[in-house]
Amino acid sequence: MCRAVFLLALTVLVCPAAVALDNGLALKPTMGWLHWERFMCNTDCDKDPNNCISERLYMQMADVMVKEGWKEAGYEYVCIDDCWPSHQRDAKGRLQADPKRFPGGIKKLADYVHSKGLKLGIYADVGKNTCAGYPGSLGYYETDAQTFADWDVDLLKFDGCYMDWKLLGEGYMNMSRALNKTGRSILYSCEWPLYEWPYKQPDYKAIRETCNHWRNFADVYDSWSSIKSILDWTASHQDIIVPSAGPGGWNDPDMLVIGNFGLSHDQQESQMALWAIMAAPLLVSNDLRDICPRSKKLLQNTDIIAISQDPLGKQGLCTIKVDSFEVWERPLSKKRLAIAVLNTQEIGGPRGFFIRAAPGWKICDPQCNVTQILPQYKDLGVQTPHTKLVVSVNPSGTTLLTVTPTSD
Ligand code: GLA
Repeated sequence: MCRAVFLLALTVLVCPAAVALDNGLALKPTMGWLHWERFMCNTDCDKDPNNCISERLYMQMADVMVKEGWKEAGYEYVCIDDCWPSHQRDAKGRLQADPKRFPGGIKKLADYVHSKGLKLGIYADVGKNTCAGYPGSLGYYETDAQTFADWDVDLLKFDGCYMDWKLLGEGYMNMSRALNKTGRSILYSCEWPLYEWPYKQPDYKAIRETCNHWRNFADVYDSWSSIKSILDWTASHQDIIVPSAGPGGWNDPDMLVIGNFGLSHDQQESQMALWAIMAAPLLVSNDLRDICPRSKKLLQNTDIIAISQDPLGKQGLCTIKVDSFEVWERPLSKKRLAIAVLNTQEIGGPRGFFIRAAPGWKICDPQCNVTQILPQYKDLGVQTPHTKLVVSVNPSGTTLLTVTPTSD
C-alpha cells in the first residue's frame, strides 16, 4: 500500500501534467456557436440574406442564445469562421471586414455581442490565405493580433491552409505570442496538429503550451460516417493525444452538428455523449433560430454539460471495443466516472450490454450508485461488482451513465 502511494507520488513528481498556455482561459472546454459547418462560405446576401455570412447572422444568433436558454446552459462564444473579411487589407495593412456584409464593422459587432453578456470569436489563418482564399496572416501576425484586440474580440480560430508545413509550429507560436502581447484575453483555437500529421507526429507538449484547443483531424460533416471517423481516429491515437488535454488546453474533435439534417436522434445523442466524454469544446454549428425541440433539449442537457465541464478536467478514453460495442470512460471529480456505451452495429434493434464488462466498473467495489443520463434519465440505484445490470443501446446510439462509488 505504502509502496503504491510512494510510486504514485513519484510518478506525479517526475511527470507533472503538461504545461498549458498560461492565459487563464479555457479552464473548462469552450462552449459556444461557430458558423462553419452549417453556413460555410455563403457570401451571397442578395440571394440569401438570412443565411449569408454577415453581421446580421451573428447578431441574430446572439439574440437567440440569450432568449432560448443557450447562454444559461453555458454556451458563451459566438464565433465567426472563414469568409468574413474583405479580399483586400486596408491602407495600413490591417484586415477589414467585408463592408457590404459587415457595415458596422467587427468592433460594433463585438460591442453588440458583449451587450448580451456573450463573447465574440473570429477566424484567421497562419498562412498566406485562409482555406477559402481570403487574406491570411503570414507576415502580419502582430498587426492582426492587435487588430483583433482593438476590436475587443475574445477568441481566435487560427487555421493552417496555405502554409509550408515546416513553418507551422513557428507560425502558431508567433501568433500565440502576438496575442499575448496585446494584453487582451483572447482564447486561441489552433489547427496546428491537423496540418502537421501528414508529415510528422506533432509535438503535443509544445501545442499545449501554445494553444487553448487544437484540431487533430478532418473537418466534421453532417453525417454519421463523419462522426464515426472522428471517434475512430481519436480512439486509435488516444495514447498520444489524451495526456495533453486538461484545464487550459483541449483536443478539439470539431463542431457539434446536432440540430441539422444528417444525424438520426440516436446519432445526435452519441455525438453529444462522446464529445462530453472527450472533454471536447462544445461549439455548435447549426441554425439556433430554427432547431427542433428534441435537439435543443439534448444540447442543453445539464447532466451531459456537467460531464463536459467537470472540474477534474481529464479527457476520457475508449476502454474496450467488443461485439460491436465501444465503451468510453471519463474520470470525473469526487472519484466519479462517466461511462458511454456506443452500439456500432448499424443493423437490427437495441442490444443489451452487460455493464460489468466496462473496465471502470471496478469502482463499484464494494458498491456504487448509477444514473443513466441517455437515452432517458433514470436512477439505476445501487450496484455492486457482481451486478447483473444490462443496459440497452440503440443502433448507432449511446447509453450514457454516471457512476458514483459509495461505501457500504
Ligand atoms: C478548414 C477548417 C474548417 C473551416 C474551413 C474554412 O477546412 O478546418 O474548420 O474553418 O477551413 O474555410
